[in-house]
Amino acid sequence: MKQKLESILAEGLKEIESSQDLKELDNARVKYLGKTGELTQILRGMKDVPAENRKEVGSLANVVRENLERSLSQKLADLENVQLLAEMEKEKVDITEPSKGIKRGALHPLTRFNNKFIDLCVEMGFTVIQTPEIETDYRNFEALNVPKNHPARDMQDSFYITDNILMRTHTSPAQVWAMETMKPPFKIVCPGRVYRNDDDSSHSPIFNQFEALVIDENIGLKDFMIMVKEMAVRLYGKDVKMRVRPAFFPFTEPSIEIDATCQMCQGKGCSLCKGTGFSEFFGGGIVNPAILEMSGIDSKKYSGFAFGPGIDRSVMVTNKIPNIKYLFRNDMKFLKQMR
Ligand code: PHE
Repeated sequence: MKQKLESILAEGLKEIESSQDLKELDNARVKYLGKTGELTQILRGMKDVPAENRKEVGSLANVVRENLERSLSQKLADLENVQLLAEMEKEKVDITEPSKGIKRGALHPLTRFNNKFIDLCVEMGFTVIQTPEIETDYRNFEALNVPKNHPARDMQDSFYITDNILMRTHTSPAQVWAMETMKPPFKIVCPGRVYRNDDDSSHSPIFNQFEALVIDENIGLKDFMIMVKEMAVRLYGKDVKMRVRPAFFPFTEPSIEIDATCQMCQGKGCSLCKGTGFSEFFGGGIVNPAILEMSGIDSKKYSGFAFGPGIDRSVMVTNKIPNIKYLFRNDMKFLKQMR
């Protein structure tokens, strides 16, 4: 028995030592120390060893096991090291090679302008809401007092999905959503895409508006003008000049159109502003009391103002973009210039 154990130790150590890779080493482990391995068999058969030899054989068997285990774990560490070195050699990075450069992303100019506007409105206490781009004829037109024969209702001007459902032609339906679902006083803004059948260098079938609605007691044109002036200063700087023209919208009365210093020429006069030094900032006005009543708000107690700038033109002017289509084409050459 003693001899047997000694030869297991000698052969085991030899086999472990000569293992070339992890697989061979594992085979050796199974052969000597595994469940049915040679040493394990002997340890299991200890009860059949005559009692007077049992102690000696047992302790020898344990020494053999300890030696084999120590040698196994030493060899395992060596082989793993060799393997790691080989892998590192394969994956070597040549740090002297010139880099490919990192492509840096950036926000789209429309997003940047929108974020600036949203931040400004949130600071002024507005709640930002989003309403559907697919609207009912009722919220897009009727509830805003846009009469049945209004040209915007023409199939040629709006994208109808069914007789009663269309792509919203402006963000003003957000006013109706707010009046139907919120209790005054409230201040909301709704940035979003709108759709009209228009297509030339300054018009695109998809463009962006930014609806704002303020409803409270005793709100008048003066409050409107103060807020608009503050917004223009924050967006275009403190030297911005504004001018007001009368306008017409079925849902505001009176309605006005506000122009601000042309950001392309800074008011000097250019082809975009046709030499006037001003470009359109936005349209708006005092909410028509009929609109409030239609959405269930008491027009004797509450009044308000609404306005809806188009975002695209401002972005074009401030970034000197000659054609609105650039904003929607996802052309990398253009986008890189806008970083
Ligand atoms: N919705 C109008 C348009 O698209 C703009 C507007 C908004 C006018 C709010 C008055 C009040 O032209």
